[in-house]
Amino acid sequence: MGSTILSTIVTLLFVYFLYKSISFLRFYIHAHRAGFPAYLSPVLSKSIPWLVLAPAFQPQLEKYLPGWIYERLDLVIHGWEFRRKREFHDRLGSIFAIVTPDECSVIVADPAVGNLILQRRNDFLLAPITARLLGFLGPNVFTVNGDEWKRHRRLFAANLDERISRTVWIKSCQQAQTMLEYMVDHPGGETLDGLRSIAINVIGQSGYSQKRPWSPNLRELTVDAKSGRTAYFMTLSMVTSMFLEAAMLPTKLMRLPLMPPALRSMGKHLERIPQYTQEVLEEERQAATVVSDPRHNFLSLLLQLSDEEKRRGQSGFSLTDEEITGNMFIFSSAGFETTANTMGYAVILLAAHPEWQDWVREELHVLDADVSTWTYEDVYPKCRRTRAVMLETLRHFPPVLHSTRAVLAPQRLVSSDGTHHLAPPMDFFVSHLSIHLDATIWGPDAEDFKPSRWFDDDGQIITPPKGTFLPWSGGPRVCPGMKMSQVEFVAVMATLFRSARCEPIPTLESHRPEDLQRRLQQLMDNSVSKLTLQVRDVKAVQLRWIRD
Ligand code: HEM
Repeated sequence: MGSTILSTIVTLLFVYFLYKSISFLRFYIHAHRAGFPAYLSPVLSKSIPWLVLAPAFQPQLEKYLPGWIYERLDLVIHGWEFRRKREFHDRLGSIFAIVTPDECSVIVADPAVGNLILQRRNDFLLAPITARLLGFLGPNVFTVNGDEWKRHRRLFAANLDERISRTVWIKSCQQAQTMLEYMVDHPGGETLDGLRSIAINVIGQSGYSQKRPWSPNLRELTVDAKSGRTAYFMTLSMVTSMFLEAAMLPTKLMRLPLMPPALRSMGKHLERIPQYTQEVLEEERQAATVVSDPRHNFLSLLLQLSDEEKRRGQSGFSLTDEEITGNMFIFSSAGFETTANTMGYAVILLAAHPEWQDWVREELHVLDADVSTWTYEDVYPKCRRTRAVMLETLRHFPPVLHSTRAVLAPQRLVSSDGTHHLAPPMDFFVSHLSIHLDATIWGPDAEDFKPSRWFDDDGQIITPPKGTFLPWSGGPRVCPGMKMSQVEFVAVMATLFRSARCEPIPTLESHRPEDLQRRLQQLMDNSVSKLTLQVRDVKAVQLRWIRD
């Protein structure tokens, strides 16, 4: 009996090994026939254990494995573009393929080819892995293709308009003012968390009219979840901070007693998401009946459009409750982390480069010292240097390192090397960061932080050639929150830097500004890419804010 089980296991393992070896060979042939240089890695790169464990243990793998082995693994651990910068493109060219037994993935750092891929949304589809990762709370704009995508996308296009810009502006200025009051009296490691609080409150306000005062500690605020709305909001923010675990692990597993408390708590709340969703939708439907209090938040507009369509029996806009939850999650997660991290990097960069801080503050000094008098229409257009700081920050630290697309039917792709014949399945990663650091596009100082590069001789902000600047991606699926994030960034930065400057706090080891600035740079270099690119050790960013 025992030997039969053993021989069955051995046979199954052998068949599996054979199957994976054949796949490895097949993917290599795909890369070769398409004419892309292939870089081989013998890892099951799409298996759940690899996807969950490899990012967690990447620092240990780097520390303990010999360089030549680690290199083969590093390229299939999320975030390698940030860790390696242009190293592999310099060796293998602007387009190359990573081949494993699980995939043939083509990495594109050629702006013209990247642009082509992003334009052809029906040939280069959103990858099934993205749908799986981002769709676990319900189908949404990020997880669908073709006409389905158009239906979801129209909801975002209809909602992220100038009305939301005004709400975002007011809320961001108010929140940043409160944060500054606090930070001036509390030097230390709270600035990045403070910016995260702003970003989540701005999303809460513009997403569900969730009014919350700024607080230095995001986590403390989110623990006490009494109403459906707060619980829903809290669960979404938990999910964004432990995204891979939330997307990959079954809730039953998360709730096991041996799991860490944070995971158990998330599991508990995730199981209640359908109930919270019903409560939030019901609250919003009730609120919409109060004519004296018209609501302009994302959820109310989504419900309005969806309910109207259902009543009229049309299917252009209507969404199921599951789709509404899925899209609310995307609105929150796509809009929160990306903007929060961009503001975080910008503050660190300005603290590490006081000359650029002075440059941007020179622009802000002409604004009224009383932020409550600022209007979006008047002040936003005046803050051009502040916008240039955002663009330069995003060039160095794009929160989303690449746009992923999948080829699921044979396609052709033309590059300067000729025509590539693509055999499915093949994934494409248009590498934002590698393109942003290309010295042939951005000049020999491409690696420097230099916000003034964004101005032309007439003092206007330049529009870089197509495909060369992609923090918000490009083509029809370009980020619909692009303007919203710019408005939030400018409002927050202008409020913070109008009347205060920010600098690193001296440490026991050194008081020399050069050492302190170098340390900030090291903390940024030690970033990690989770759902988005972020500083690994947030509390180590020790800053003080000094009023003029
Ligand atoms: C600095 C801030 C932001 C950055 C850098 C950013 C970046 C991106 C990128 C790169 C994509 C495309 C991904 C791909 O092509 O695979 C994307 C898509 C998207 N973003 Fe953003 N985003 C930001 C802010 C926001 C905000 C504020 C919202 C809304 C509240 C938002 C909502 C979305 C949505 C819904 C999509 C999916 C679009 C589609 O597939 O049609 N983003 N974003």
